[in-house]
Amino acid sequence: MTTDAPAELLIRPETPEDHDGIRTVHARAFGDSERVPRLVDTLRAAEAALPPLSFVATVDQRVVGHVLLSAGRLDALPRLVDVYSLSPLGVLPEYQGRGIGSRLIEDAVGAADRQGVPLVFLEGSPSYYRKRGFLPAEELGFRPPTLRYPPGAFQVVRLSAHQEWMTGTFVYSETFWALDCVGLRGARLTAASGGRVAADQGSE
Ligand SMILES: CC(C)(COP(=O)(O)OP(=O)(O)OC[C@H]1O[C@@H](n2cnc3c(N)ncnc32)[C@H](O)[C@@H]1OP(=O)(O)O)[C@@H](O)C(=O)NCCC(=O)NCCS
Repeated sequence: MTTDAPAELLIRPETPEDHDGIRTVHARAFGDSERVPRLVDTLRAAEAALPPLSFVATVDQRVVGHVLLSAGRLDALPRLVDVYSLSPLGVLPEYQGRGIGSRLIEDAVGAADRQGVPLVFLEGSPSYYRKRGFLPAEELGFRPPTLRYPPGAFQVVRLSAHQEWMTGTFVYSETFWALDCVGLRGARLTAASGGRVAADQGSE
């Protein structure tokens, strides 16, 4: 998984000095200097039931990758369960394909497990995340927070603290809704779903 990683690569929790570098990583990885950097800044500042778990990848002290786990909820029948949402994950384009994203996921999910959090949910490419420990959440009985996920994008990893009764609907924190960062809309959703969800359902 990490065979081609640069030798000087370090994965560690973020510090305040990393914030500018993290914004740059997501602006360049996602090709949008507004949306994802703002999501990270807002999630970091939000009150939440679980502390954000934020890891950077550095090469020669430069931030080249970042992942954030932030609090969400599982609406299970007996009660609400505090869980994590993995979003965003980004690696600078010139550092992609070297195992850095995989290392960030591994460290972040490992930290969530050590905290005793039972589940980590995400929306993302099935071909990427299945190889990195995530499973199709709907097949395991979980319900997605929106109908605007492309097929297969809703994924989960069950950690040591998970128990059988912990199933239900995954609910994002208010920040994701306030910034309209749940699922896809319009043409992007149509493209990602292979035309199975019509563009006129969205606004883009
Ligand atoms: C998705 C992303 C975080 C992966 O990070 P990464 O460090 O390149 O990932 P890794 O090196 O651990 O894994 C490489 C895998 O990603 C794929 N990949 C994605 N972009 C790649 C690139 N530019 N070069 C090479 N491989 C790339 C490879 O095909 C490889 O696939 P496989 O190992 O599953 O067969 C990174 O490509 C990125 O920042 N993309 C833009 C932002 C984004 O889409 N984030 C994810 C939102 S869910």
